[in-house]
Amino acid sequence: MICEDKEVLASMIEEARTYTGYGQLADYIPALREADPSVLSLAIYDGGETCAAVGNVDETFTLQSISKVLSLALALMDQGEEEVFSRVGMEPTGDPFNSIIKLETNQPNKPLNPMINAGALAVTSMISGETPDHKLGRLLTFIHELTGNPEIRYDEKVAESELKTAHLNRSLSYFMKQHGVFDDDVEDLLDLYTKQCAIEVSCQDLAKIGYVIANEGKHVFSKRPIIPLHIARILKTFMVTCGMYNASGEFAIRVGIPAKSGVSGGIMASIPHGLGIGIYGPALDDRGNSIAGMKLLESLSHRYDLSIF
Ligand code: DON
Repeated sequence: MICEDKEVLASMIEEARTYTGYGQLADYIPALREADPSVLSLAIYDGGETCAAVGNVDETFTLQSISKVLSLALALMDQGEEEVFSRVGMEPTGDPFNSIIKLETNQPNKPLNPMINAGALAVTSMISGETPDHKLGRLLTFIHELTGNPEIRYDEKVAESELKTAHLNRSLSYFMKQHGVFDDDVEDLLDLYTKQCAIEVSCQDLAKIGYVIANEGKHVFSKRPIIPLHIARILKTFMVTCGMYNASGEFAIRVGIPAKSGVSGGIMASIPHGLGIGIYGPALDDRGNSIAGMKLLESLSHRYDLSIF
């Protein structure tokens, strides 16, 4: 079994680590420049007592775009599919994650999917709650349930650093507000969104979330549903079609596993009815995905025949 193959996993991680030298840290969020680009960690969870974890497993990092999967789950549970998809589409864009171009050219002017920044901002606006703090608290509680880790918080320094420099996300939000995608106060929405992106996890936490999504949304031990089955399916489908941004097609061919990346260097993967995988490697390729993390997933997929296709 893959989780018992610790030595093999450790040698795969060292092989993949050589690629970290070819990547770059995200620099448009100043706090993310402080990461060590040579770090690489992997956790695999199969529903047992503990995760198999190798590499720099004690490192924590912020979810960034991986949070988009979780805010979507919550918004779908809160508002229902019809309402959510009246404000955000279901189609991949083929453009970078922060692109504005299709917001203008697509009619009506709603974002094409929930995994690009525009779509994720619209989704965050649909999380129920009296105040932004209440909404964030609900998202954190949801993540505590998914991971079984009640210690998870957001990193204030990363959130503040992003909020100060989030001018592209500001412009996307004002554009959408003008076109009636939502009516929230833009600064309040950005504050909530940047805190959501700054939620701090380990690769083990990510593997556990990936496992619940892989396994029909059921709690790891109690088997109680945390995410309804039809929503867990929607999440996995978006992970396949849009999870790695404009690298999603190539990733589907080379790796073939539903996965979601973030610019801090995290990748969460869910093998339907199987494993949850969490990876952290902050050196990114030119499309904003962990360069060594992608290589590692490709090797894992080949060695253990993990492609869903
Ligand atoms: O909104 C942003 O730009 C970031 N907080 C998240 C973007 C991201 O993680 C894209 N990932 N590859």
